[in-house]
Amino acid sequence: MEYLKTAEYAARQAGDLLTKRFTRELKIEKKGRINLVTDADRASEELIKRIISETYPEHSFLAEEGTGTKSGSPYLWVVDPLDGTTNFAHGLPIWCVSIGLLKDREIIAGCVYNPNLDECFTAERGSGACLNGHPIAVSTTQTLDDALLATGFPYDIRESPLDNLSQFASFAKSARAVRRAGAAALDLAYTACGRFDGFWEFKLSPWDIAAGILLIEEAGGQATSYSGDQYDIYQGELLASNGKIHNAMIEILRNTLG
Ligand code: IPD
Ligand code: CA
Ligand code: CA
Repeated sequence: MEYLKTAEYAARQAGDLLTKRFTRELKIEKKGRINLVTDADRASEELIKRIISETYPEHSFLAEEGTGTKSGSPYLWVVDPLDGTTNFAHGLPIWCVSIGLLKDREIIAGCVYNPNLDECFTAERGSGACLNGHPIAVSTTQTLDDALLATGFPYDIRESPLDNLSQFASFAKSARAVRRAGAAALDLAYTACGRFDGFWEFKLSPWDIAAGILLIEEAGGQATSYSGDQYDIYQGELLASNGKIHNAMIEILRNTLG
């Protein structure tokens, strides 16, 4: 599909740009007390926006650092030009580029690219998910006892009582282990290819999860709200898993959220 090729091309170009800037001196600004943005985030977004709007000038565009355009088109590109900015700013090589495409609010294509490992995760609706062109599938893990889970914490963790800490504590005591790697799009890609068995997080943004949700679905997994209902990428709450441990995760979330 041409759309997916464009997504992959843009993600790889942005990945190259970010790699060149990684561990070099960055201009770092604070969007909040602990929420960073760097000149690399902005440059990556500009590049992706340019590539996509040159190819599909009539499509709408929504990206984290603000280069949005709204046209009357049913197509909307949803872009995180650098997912894992805190890691990037600290020289920790766990970050990626995430590009999703919606048509009439349905995610139809997605690409998550991690230049650090040259791993490109791609999916288009109805055609499966791939890692570097090879089909991937979610894990077959049946129980939380045997599961490796991933999550993250919101940037308002200091101010808000909705801080994911009680959920983290409960999963830490019921799963094999829980990781907080710092890039939600990569967490989802890793769940899609079976490295993680499940993921939960709230207060996410559409650009964190649009591409990753499609990877999960096309790899045979399940993506829902915390209660198991249809997800809404604008609501920011996501539970994603291999499907087998989904109900067990819903139960923990229900118990900890009261
Ligand atoms: C963040 C990362 C992190 C998640 C945050 C996101 P950013 O994105 O994905 O893992 O916990 O909720 O905002 O700011 O690095 O693009
Ligand atoms: Ca992000
Ligand atoms: Ca980002």
